[in-house]
Amino acid sequence: MNIVMMGPPGAGKGTQAKILAERFDLLHLSPGDLLREAVREGTELGRKAKTFMDAGLLVPDELIVDLIGGRIREEEAGRARGVILDGFPRTLRQAEALDELLEESGRPLDAVVNITLPVEEAVRRLTGRRVCRGCGANYHLLYKPPRALGVCDLCGGPLYQRTDDTEETARSRLEVYRRETEPLISYYARRGLVREVDGRGNVDTVTDRLVKALRPGP
Ligand code: AP5
Repeated sequence: MNIVMMGPPGAGKGTQAKILAERFDLLHLSPGDLLREAVREGTELGRKAKTFMDAGLLVPDELIVDLIGGRIREEEAGRARGVILDGFPRTLRQAEALDELLEESGRPLDAVVNITLPVEEAVRRLTGRRVCRGCGANYHLLYKPPRALGVCDLCGGPLYQRTDDTEETARSRLEVYRRETEPLISYYARRGLVREVDGRGNVDTVTDRLVKALRPGP
């Protein structure tokens, strides 16, 4: 099963992709996570990507296509049961590159999940998010606070706020999404692949909706 997760920043793509990947034994690929890792490690990719990410802009297509293409090909060699792509594609060029990659591997795209969320709730989720520097676990100051302030429940690592989660940058990212990524929904709708899922409500409620939306039709 190969799934693309779409939805505005803060919709819950990362949270839900991790849950679904575990449940369906899929490889979870998130360019955002891979780029942040590259920035942390100070690689050439990380240096090139950082300015775009800090400004809430998309990283150039060729860098992203190389990054994700490499991972998908590696995984193809490993014969995983499929991939769940969280935050890729985000432009038409990336969507076309994904079509080529999947065609190469003889694995079709099964579904494009579009998680919807009102803008103001997305801003609340982004500005309240805190991430563990140690294990990458996600928290939220209101919706999922850690037991001890600023400390990860799972590994005891320190929690930080992503540089692109300030209100100003969060709003720019939402605008970039509306302008550059949302048009892809019609690209996939023409192929009958889109499953709309309401992203409001708690994490479990949204997971239930996703699992229902991904069940094969009658
Ligand atoms: P990326 O890391 O992909 O960020 P994003 O798409 O903006 O998505 P987010 O991670 O912010 O949100 P999410 O939908 O995953 O929500 P989450 O589950 O974390 O990309 C960052 C940057 O990298 C981009 O701006 C760009 O520069 C670059 N980039 C990445 N991909 C690229 C590409 N393909 N092309 C070019 N550039 C690219 O949840 C958010 C918060 O809400 C968390 O605190 C969580 O705990 C909480 N939460 C989640 N679900 C719920 C719920 N149901 N109820 C209450 N709280 C919830």
